[in-house]
Amino acid sequence: MKAKTAKETLAITTKLVLPNDTNTLGNLFGGELLAWMDVISSISAHRHCKRVVVTAAVNNVSFQQPIKEASIVTLEAKVSRAFTSSMEIFVDVFVEDNVTGEKVKSNEAIYTFVAVDQNGGPIAVPELIPETDLEKQRFEGALRRKQLGLILAGKMKPNDAGELKKLFMGE
Ligand SMILES: CC(C)(COP(=O)(O)OP(=O)(O)OC[C@H]1O[C@@H](n2cnc3c(N)ncnc32)[C@H](O)[C@@H]1OP(=O)(O)O)[C@@H](O)C(=O)NCCC(=O)NCCS
Repeated sequence: MKAKTAKETLAITTKLVLPNDTNTLGNLFGGELLAWMDVISSISAHRHCKRVVVTAAVNNVSFQQPIKEASIVTLEAKVSRAFTSSMEIFVDVFVEDNVTGEKVKSNEAIYTFVAVDQNGGPIAVPELIPETDLEKQRFEGALRRKQLGLILAGKMKPNDAGELKKLFMGE
């Protein structure tokens, strides 16, 4: 399988916040944003492996500021690291200033997708090559985040989390 650069996995979408997408304060529903982020990160994961992918986990979601009705919202998703069958995807969310057009980052989330075969079982994905400083920084932290996520999901024993141990105990 041919390795891919993070750039090759980039997926972008632009949305308009309509009244039906908002709560009683006129701000975008968190759940709506999560759904948008899920879709765009699945496209990014698919661009990486060209297989059917499923959401395995959603982590580090931050809703730093409300997004108002009528906002123009851009979501950018890129695979930050690929493991055996799973891929970590970062989604960055930007809101466009209605007057200046400047895009200000408002939210971010980290998704994990797994490539599956026709029976829903995990299958191998290509390696991911980070190029920019930010891509390298996200790549470096991905194994720690994977191990922490698996521990919290009860799928890994803390003792087996070598990368986390290194972080906390300097091993
Ligand atoms: C995701 C899924 C395919 C994993 O299957 P599984 O039998 O747990 O497979 P494994 O334990 O072999 O794990 C496969 C990969 O998933 C990763 N994974 C599993 N659970 C995870 C979790 N909670 N967080 C992060 N990664 C996870 C494993 O680390 C492994 O990655 P790797 O191959 O890169 O090392 C399976 O749990 C599934 O189908 N889940 C439902 C997906 C879905 O329907 N999503 C939509 C939600 S409604």
